Amino acid sequence: MATLAFPEGFVWGAATASYQIEGAWNEDGKGPSIWDEFTHTPGKIKNGDTGDVACDHYHRYREDVALMKSLGLEAYRFSISWPRVLPEGQGAVNEAGLDFYSRLIDELLAAGITPTPTLYHWDLPLALHHLGGWPNVDTAGWFADYAELCFRRFGDRVSRWITLNEPQVVASVGYLSGHHAPGHRDQRECLHAGHTLLVGHGMAVQRLRSLLPEAEIGITVDLWPAHPATDSEEDRAAAQRWAEANGWFLDPIFQGDYPAVMRDAYGELLPEFTGEQRSVVQEGIDFIGVNNYSRSVVRHNPAADPCQAEMVPPPGPITAMGWEIYPPGLAEVVKWVHERFAPPAIYVTENGAAFDDRPDASGRVEDEDRRMYIRDYLAEVHRTIGAGVPVRGYYVWSLLDNFEWAEGYSKRFGITRVNYDTLARTLKRSGEWYGEVVRSNSIDTEA
Ligand code: GCO
Repeated sequence: MATLAFPEGFVWGAATASYQIEGAWNEDGKGPSIWDEFTHTPGKIKNGDTGDVACDHYHRYREDVALMKSLGLEAYRFSISWPRVLPEGQGAVNEAGLDFYSRLIDELLAAGITPTPTLYHWDLPLALHHLGGWPNVDTAGWFADYAELCFRRFGDRVSRWITLNEPQVVASVGYLSGHHAPGHRDQRECLHAGHTLLVGHGMAVQRLRSLLPEAEIGITVDLWPAHPATDSEEDRAAAQRWAEANGWFLDPIFQGDYPAVMRDAYGELLPEFTGEQRSVVQEGIDFIGVNNYSRSVVRHNPAADPCQAEMVPPPGPITAMGWEIYPPGLAEVVKWVHERFAPPAIYVTENGAAFDDRPDASGRVEDEDRRMYIRDYLAEVHRTIGAGVPVRGYYVWSLLDNFEWAEGYSKRFGITRVNYDTLARTLKRSGEWYGEVVRSNSIDTEA
C-alpha cells in the first residue's frame, strides 16, 4: 500500500537546541556556557564557526513559530539554555532569560503548538564547569535546582518535559574524544560525567513529581543499532557488545545498574551507584525519547578500546555526515527500547539528515535526498507502530539549518534553509512535504 496512515493523535513535531539556533550568546544577562568558550577557542570548530549569532532565533522566534504554524506542526522540541536563565549555573536568576522562554512558550501555545522543552542540550554554564562540571557529582544537584526553577516558571503552560539530550554524547564526546565542549580526553571523567548526568536526571524527575504531578517527563538518548561487519562469530560477538552499551543510560534508569559489558570493559573506573543514587536514578519516567540517524557496523579488534570492537565504514549510501542511510535501524532500536524497558510511551525526538543542499538563485532547495530519507524512516516508524510498539510522535531534526557542533555551519540538517548572511529562512522541498505529511497524518511511500 502506498499510503500509510498514522494513528489519530500521533504527534508531529520538529526539534532544535538552544546553542544551535539562538545566538545572542551574551545578551540580556546570559552567562557563558562551555560551548561559548569552546567555540571561541581557535581550532576547535570547522571554519572557526561559533554560535554567537547562529540562526538569531533569540530575536526571530516569532517568525520561526509562524513557520511552524504554517506547517501545521503540533509540537516543538527546543532546549532551554541553562546559563541564559542562571548565568552562574546556580544562585542569581536572570529574569530576562526566563522571559525569553516565557514569550516563546506563549507564542507556541497561541499557534496551537505544544512546547516540549529539553532542559539540557549541552550548554553547561561555564561557571559550573569551573567547579568541576559533569564529572563532579555536585552538578546533579545544581541541575535539579535549575530544573525546578523551570518547572516553577513554566509548569503552568508546559506539560511535557525532557531532562537530558543524549547524555552518552555529553559524556563521551565532551570528556573522552574531546570533539565537543569542554574538549577533555579522560576515560575516568567521561564515566563520572555519565554518572552525574544520571543522578541529575533522576533528581529532576523527582522535583517534577512533587511540583507538577500531572506533567510528563522523559529522557532522550541517541541509539545506533550495531551490526557485525562480517558473519564471523568474532564480529557478531563484537557487535553484540557494542549494542549492549546502548544501555549505558537506560539500564540504570530501568534496571538499576550499568550494562555488564561496561563493568567488564572499565572495571573500577566505572562508578558504583550508592543505594540512594540507585533509587533516585530509577524514578519512573513517562516516556523515552529516541534519537536515531544511522547504524554502526562493527568488527572485532582485540586492540580496540574499550570492548575490543570498532566501527568500520558502512556498506550503504551515506549522508553529508558520513552516516549510513539505514531506515530499518530506527525500527530496530525503537523495538529494542520497547522490549527491554517497556516505557509507557516512546517518541522519536530526533531523526533527519544533512545533505549538501544546492539552492537556486532564490534560495530554493529541492532536497529530494532529505525528503526520501525522512519518508523512508517514517515508513519504519509506521511499521513499528503496526507491530504494537507505542511510538507516540516524531520530531524531525531539524526545523532550521543550524550550528552543527564541531562541524559548524558546514552541515545542514534543516527542512528550512537559513541564509547565514541575511538570516532569511526559506522552506525547502522537504519542509513543504513534511507539512503535507503533518496535515494528512500519513505518508505516501511511492511519492
Ligand atoms: C545530536 C544532537 C543534535 C545534532 C543532530 C545532528 O543528536 O547530536 O541532539 O544537536 O545536531 O543530532 O548531529
